Amino acid sequence: MSAVPEAIRLEIPATLPPRDFSAVERTQLRERIKQQLRAEDAVLVAHYYTDPDLQELAEETGGCVSDSLEMARFGNRHPASTVIVAGVRFMGETAKILNPEKRVLMPTLQAECSLDLGCPADQFAAFCDAHPDRTVIVYANTSAAVKARADWVVTSSIAVDVVEYLSERGEKLIWAPDRNLGRYIQEKTDADMLLWNGTCVVHDEFKAKALAQSKAMYPDAAVLVHPESPESVIALADAVGSTSQLINAAKTLPHKQLIVATDGGIFYKMQQAAPDKEFIIAPTAGAGGSCRSCAHCPWMRMNALDNLAAVFTEPGHEITVDPAVIPGALQSLQRMLDFAQQRGVRSVGRA
Ligand code: 13P
Ligand code: SF4
Repeated sequence: MSAVPEAIRLEIPATLPPRDFSAVERTQLRERIKQQLRAEDAVLVAHYYTDPDLQELAEETGGCVSDSLEMARFGNRHPASTVIVAGVRFMGETAKILNPEKRVLMPTLQAECSLDLGCPADQFAAFCDAHPDRTVIVYANTSAAVKARADWVVTSSIAVDVVEYLSERGEKLIWAPDRNLGRYIQEKTDADMLLWNGTCVVHDEFKAKALAQSKAMYPDAAVLVHPESPESVIALADAVGSTSQLINAAKTLPHKQLIVATDGGIFYKMQQAAPDKEFIIAPTAGAGGSCRSCAHCPWMRMNALDNLAAVFTEPGHEITVDPAVIPGALQSLQRMLDFAQQRGVRSVGRA
């Protein structure tokens, strides 16, 4: 296999508009879910990119709304016997790997991630085998089997810190799957990294030329960028970071207007964190261009009140992980959690 693998072509579903429930349906679904959570000793953990209704429910019922690192930590320490993960498959799998004794349910098992799909375990293992001198570090947005092949798992909150630590120990690295995030980390740490050729279908669509036009239109605005975005977009950022780090930046930066290059679901929490500020979604294409995801992850959008209400009453919602890969995946995830506990995570990264 070559040093830089070819990008894998993927079928990406179209992003559907949010479900349109009537006020009565919405109230009934919310009440039914709250009642089920109590009756089933279950806790709801939602990612920032999910529908605001689900984020609100998680908050109201003592669950958690967070980035993927905190989702993993929360599900791990909460005493509930069932964890409901509103997000994408790798988040449900991570919860299951960390808590094999718990039942992990998801509103839909169809919610994938282009990074996970773009890094098949067999091809990735062959790539790693071709470079046995390198430590393997993978993003949390991967399958359990890929995590099991890795030495370390990281999320975007902690990736720079872990790579810096490994690089200072003189280790050469393989990084997978997101090439934009890998390049960003490489630039920040000067680490020796071989990058897998994956991208996020949402963040890779942000366009630097159109973003420069937005900056001209809102000259007092700060630009917040998730590091899965292209290099040229990151270059225009005032703050670069994971979803939690971007919310923190929205709160702490003095700017009253913020142009945000990440999934638009994050505005629910950003608005809570900085209620007096104006948020503008970064453009995904230049004038006359088109976008597939339009800053909304097609898979995150599959989570809604109706399929959340069905997790206890219909089959096909439980996450299972091949027991053969659990020990390996757990070891590389646990390394991240231990590292996070020992070192803390950085708050706001900068371009
Ligand atoms: P975070 O780890 O920042 O929550 O990101 C997860 C993700 O899927 C970003 O697209
Ligand atoms: Fe994966 Fe991108 Fe969706 Fe995040 S936004 S879950 S990285 S496809």
